[in-house]
Amino acid sequence: TYVIAQPCVDVMDLACVAECPVDCIVAGGRTLYIDPVACVDCHACEPVCPVEAIFYEADVPAEYAHWTAVNAEFFPGGGGPALTGGDHPVVAALPPQSA
Ligand code: F3S
Ligand code: F3S
Repeated sequence: TYVIAQPCVDVMDLACVAECPVDCIVAGGRTLYIDPVACVDCHACEPVCPVEAIFYEADVPAEYAHWTAVNAEFFPGGGGPALTGGDHPVVAALPPQSA
């Protein structure tokens, strides 16, 4: 799967959403999340993000390692609560991210 990391928080450019062929990039309140079950690793999203927030799971930088779980846990059945409409607790706890 691909993973959306912290640079998306409070930016939400949405360019990635238009590229995804399986519509597996979902908006929370402050960031977007990729459903790891639905993502087909097409790679279309990664190059269009203006803040380079998207990484292939094997290439997630060490400082963003926990974001793989943040994405997965956002989705029902992903090991965490269904949070659609809100944000994962890790995201909700972040201070405002200024550009
Ligand atoms: Fe969609 Fe990106 Fe996966 S475009 S299929 S989320 S690699
Ligand atoms: Fe976020 Fe980049 Fe998509 S800022 S909404 S991951 S294009």
